[in-house]
Amino acid sequence: MADMMWAGRFSKQVDAGVNAFNSSIAFDGRMYRHDIQGSIAHATMLGDCGIITKEDSLSIIEGLKGILSDIDSGKLELDPNAEDIHMFVEAELTKRLGDVGKRLHTSRSRNDQVAVDLRLYLRDEVKEITALVRELITTIISLAKKHTETIMPGYTHLQRAQPITFAHHLMAYVWMLLRDLGRLGDAAKRMNECPLGCGALAGTTYHTDRQQTSDLLGFDNPMYNSLDGVSDRDYCIELGCALSLLMTHLSRFSEEIILWCSWEFKFIELDDAFATGSSIMPQKKNPDVTELIRGKTGRVNGDLMTLLTMMKGLPLAYNKDMQEDKEAIFDAVDNVKLCVRTFTPMLATMRVLGDNMRNAAARGFINATDCADYLVKKGMPFRDAYKITGTLVAQCIEKGVTLETLPLEDYKAMTDNFDEDVYEAISLDTCVRERKSMGGPAPENVEKQIALAEQRLASLGNL
Ligand code: ARG
Repeated sequence: MADMMWAGRFSKQVDAGVNAFNSSIAFDGRMYRHDIQGSIAHATMLGDCGIITKEDSLSIIEGLKGILSDIDSGKLELDPNAEDIHMFVEAELTKRLGDVGKRLHTSRSRNDQVAVDLRLYLRDEVKEITALVRELITTIISLAKKHTETIMPGYTHLQRAQPITFAHHLMAYVWMLLRDLGRLGDAAKRMNECPLGCGALAGTTYHTDRQQTSDLLGFDNPMYNSLDGVSDRDYCIELGCALSLLMTHLSRFSEEIILWCSWEFKFIELDDAFATGSSIMPQKKNPDVTELIRGKTGRVNGDLMTLLTMMKGLPLAYNKDMQEDKEAIFDAVDNVKLCVRTFTPMLATMRVLGDNMRNAAARGFINATDCADYLVKKGMPFRDAYKITGTLVAQCIEKGVTLETLPLEDYKAMTDNFDEDVYEAISLDTCVRERKSMGGPAPENVEKQIALAEQRLASLGNL
């Protein structure tokens, strides 16, 4: 029993199974740097406020730095039997410093300690994810710049609908990802408040300086309610939401890439380094990366559900249920990083088969709206023009021709409003070039859009 820090009021050893069940070091051990960072700030403040002597404060700080470099170098291994990373570091400090080490936990609880550690840890992760998403956006933008004239069919219901360009399609993802960056920035902002010093739940009777620890750790401000400080896991959930949406975007993009590299579409070809083969079918080249991203999106959504469900019935303040937060948010963070890191170079190396995109756009009557619009521009009400064009499409299907190859007399048989210039009006190039409404696919528009997106990216800044 002597080895348990809270042993005083117990008369029995904790059951070995319960100890293992209770322990979180297997997954919170990864926060050791942040735990030590938080403890150094705490020890500094204790010394400056005269709660412990300056001398003890300095010894504790040196001791903590020693532990940090020993874990970093592999000289000190985390004890899998420790209850958690907080207990492990404190026990190690006491092993090294004796009684002085026991002074570190003055006016602090593991409840504020774990809350500050997790905020520090996730703050670093959000920075890393933000940088990865920025790199992805830059990659998509440079691909888009090359394809402002590459005509492809736009789809609704996965049926060919109206002509767009590959750049226009790509830029849709850029705007989604820019919103993701905004959400990550928001999550980082609200995460950046300091719970250290909230104690177990009710603050402390020592004259602490919470502003100092908050400043030392680079937080915007100390949290203003000690109960909230230790009870809050909004920052995990908010980050989880941002990550789920980011994954949703990657998953939709992945789904399209899976379709595009099928023989049925053949709009792109993945680089050999980013595709996989089959164990039996020699001809196969499979888009495993994108399928895994689509699959992992379910898992990241599951992590978010874990967090939301874990919190929904908890009374204030700390409850042990909250230990479950870490595996969920770590899993989400780890998988998002893996996905973005793999997706970006896959996208940068894929081959775009522009001719196939254009050929697909030339079939499927995607200029039918433009044919109707031609009549509208000659004065006909849209509904009548729509009906006439529909009849013409039906005739084309019956004859096995396209609107471009349907003879003028067939047009004229429907209405005299048709003239030779209809062919120019419904050519794919005209259809795209004339779609100049704001946000539309006309090349000059997409170029403006790209410039705006680049401005937005710059204004969002790095975290
Ligand atoms: N390992 C715990 C967690 O991750 C640390 C906080 C423990 N606090 C307590 N009162 N038991 O949540």
